[in-house]
Amino acid sequence: MSKVLIIGCGGVASVAIQKCCQCSEVFEEICIASRTKEKCDRLAEKLRPSTKTVITTARVNADNEKEVAALIRDYQPDLVMHIALPYQNLSIMNACLECGVNYMDTANYEPEDINDKNWREIYEKRCKDEGFSAYFDYSWQWAYHEKFKEAGLTALLGSGFDPGVTQAYCAYALKHHFDSIETIDILDCNGGDHGYPFATNFNPEINLREVSAPGSYWENGHWIEVPAMSIKREYNFDQVGKKDMYLLHHEEIESLAKNIPNVKRIRFFMTFGQSYLTHMKCLENVGMLSTTPVLYEGHEIVPIQFLKALLPDPASLGPRTVGKTNIGCIFTGIKDGKEKSYYLYNICDHQECYREVGSQAISYTTGVPAMCGALMVLTGKWNKAGVYTLEEFDPDPFMEALNKYGLPWNENFEPTLVP
Ligand SMILES: NC(=O)c1ccc[n+]([C@@H]2O[C@H](COP(=O)([O-])OP(=O)(O)OC[C@H]3O[C@@H](n4cnc5c(N)ncnc54)[C@H](OP(=O)(O)O)[C@@H]3O)[C@@H](O)[C@H]2O)c1
Repeated sequence: MSKVLIIGCGGVASVAIQKCCQCSEVFEEICIASRTKEKCDRLAEKLRPSTKTVITTARVNADNEKEVAALIRDYQPDLVMHIALPYQNLSIMNACLECGVNYMDTANYEPEDINDKNWREIYEKRCKDEGFSAYFDYSWQWAYHEKFKEAGLTALLGSGFDPGVTQAYCAYALKHHFDSIETIDILDCNGGDHGYPFATNFNPEINLREVSAPGSYWENGHWIEVPAMSIKREYNFDQVGKKDMYLLHHEEIESLAKNIPNVKRIRFFMTFGQSYLTHMKCLENVGMLSTTPVLYEGHEIVPIQFLKALLPDPASLGPRTVGKTNIGCIFTGIKDGKEKSYYLYNICDHQECYREVGSQAISYTTGVPAMCGALMVLTGKWNKAGVYTLEEFDPDPFMEALNKYGLPWNENFEPTLVP
């Protein structure tokens, strides 16, 4: 019998929770815990009539390690699915270690306060040593590997789509299609239209930080960093059409560079429309993306948090978003002494997602792999003790689960390569 504590009840978590409830033979009991308990209660009420999963709810401030540990001790779960924000990864990992429970998340650790002196010192050293300046990286969570290993617990990092499915795609390509992979291009295309001049598809703070940061890629054993949005390509995506895409830094590049033997180059591209980029540049230029508090009429305001309050709630985009996403990886490499290329990708329709779970495809493509990753840990298919990313496990049962729970994959053996 599996009991799971799910922390967070936002866009991604609500999809993952609904998917867990579609698989009540494994997810027999879940507790949905978040900062705003009312959201958890509303979702639990909606789901109870149609699932055998026993759902309870709780309030928790996941920034507070002791509060999380107390909730874990009280509920006694087999796994904690952390689907709140990357700011809470370390406090929740600490609580899991303290209580002897498996852990998983969907994005790697990032501090809420990037001006914190202690964090900043370590960050600046890493920028110099590694050559990329993103605020997030795996080092904080990889540092827990020995502790999880000694405790006999699994920590699964980044079980969303990208990171997440993209890494399982890499493991699958290596297992079934290549003797060695030379290049990986991860292409994330959102061909959806929500009709607003500007809105973000998931948490605006996390999204805008990611997109306004310098881009970087891995080549010949080191990072190459370039100014934000300075590398642009056009690609003709299956079922979406031609889109402009831009090179971004992305967290899975870091783990893939470590885990895919002899890989020569890894890049990540995401599509953006001109309206999104113009709005973002303007907001950045006037200081609205800053995380440093400013004093306004006696109140301290964090500009990006104020902006978040003005923007449409990503959860509200579902009913109005039409079109498809197409996310996947293009590989080149060698099989049986011959050069080979291979494209593995998923296409997801915003409106179909909305009809099924009441969310658009961005939350859906992250929430389904979160549930599938949890399923792998709970059923013992992925049960190595320590801290791991998805490419470090056998991809086959996870790929099967993706097909079964709503994210089937497509293959192209003659893909157009990205110049
Ligand atoms: N790997 C991928 O492909 C991928 C893609 C998209 C997103 N993500 C990640 O998925 C995660 C969730 O994103 P989202 O779009 O669902 O975000 P969201 O809609 O903003 O939801 C965040 C949830 O976390 C809760 N929360 C925030 N701080 C908390 C705290 N201190 N204690 C307890 N609960 C707290 C929020 O509670 P309130 O309701 O009180 O605000 C909300 O329920 C993020 O880590 C994001 O980076 C990953």
